[in-house]
Amino acid sequence: MKAYDHIIQEHYQRVAREAGLSPQSTMADQIIRQRETEAILRFIEAVLADRQARGLTDPPLVMDVGCGNGYTLSVLRDAFPHLRLVGVEKVDALRSLAASRFADDAQVRILAGDVRDPDFHQGLRPDVLISQRVLINLLDAEDQRRALANMIHAVREPDADGIGGYLLFWESFQTPLARLNEARAEFGMDPIPPAHHNLYLPDDFFAHPELEPFRTATYQPQPNMLSTHYFVSRVLHAVVTRTFTPDAPFKRNSHFVQFLSSALPPAVGDYAPLKLYVFRRVRPR
Ligand SMILES: C[S@@+](CC[C@H](N)C(=O)[O-])C[C@H]1O[C@@H](n2cnc3c(N)ncnc32)[C@H](O)[C@@H]1O
Repeated sequence: MKAYDHIIQEHYQRVAREAGLSPQSTMADQIIRQRETEAILRFIEAVLADRQARGLTDPPLVMDVGCGNGYTLSVLRDAFPHLRLVGVEKVDALRSLAASRFADDAQVRILAGDVRDPDFHQGLRPDVLISQRVLINLLDAEDQRRALANMIHAVREPDADGIGGYLLFWESFQTPLARLNEARAEFGMDPIPPAHHNLYLPDDFFAHPELEPFRTATYQPQPNMLSTHYFVSRVLHAVVTRTFTPDAPFKRNSHFVQFLSSALPPAVGDYAPLKLYVFRRVRPR
């Protein structure tokens, strides 16, 4: 038990109460949720193709750590019916919501677990691990590093080829938030702070000797794939709103943002604190 645990518990108990099974639980921005989910689906496709190329044809075990209300698991269940799925969630109210989706489904298990505990995976050895905005909920840099090591060591160990399980992280970083706030400052707008229940990561957070970026000839995800969307929604939209309707409350998911974020190339600049990183576990280098 850490001094910051009550902040996380209180926040997510409220989220569970207010958002229930909604996709907007933990993510009010619909475009971000949609693009996070699409990126996870593309990642699983790339993993399945890579495993097949390496002669691994058994259905992989996919673990969603900090699975929240189980939204991502439900999308994966529909898109890839042969996958074996496990969600791990610390907050009881969110875990109950996730479990309620899969009450009669033997392919999906929901477990209680704390990613700071090395045994959080309860002896399971996932082939694939997903973590969507979870490390930033650990409000201590050392806990974040330990949790990363726990996740790496939970996935399948490297085989004779030196390749082990696959990992995907959507996490937020300090430097692009500072850059986004510089762009806002050009128009005299206040900086956006991280949410009170988040601690953003340093740029080199994933420089770990047992992680190798996962890329193939046909799969090359861009970590900054939300950059344009952040610039449009947190700079341009804010400027236009301020100029024309200074007293209007902040509006999420506006037509303006949906239009421009779809019309422009997605990964321009480095303005999105929320970034995508995908890896394979390898032997320590
Ligand atoms: C930002 S939410 C994301 C939830 C889900 N992945 C989604 O996309 O909606 C972060 C999740 O991590 C969970 N979490 C926070 N600290 C945790 C910990 N120490 N161990 C396991 N899960 C944790 C929270 O309860 C919450 O469900």
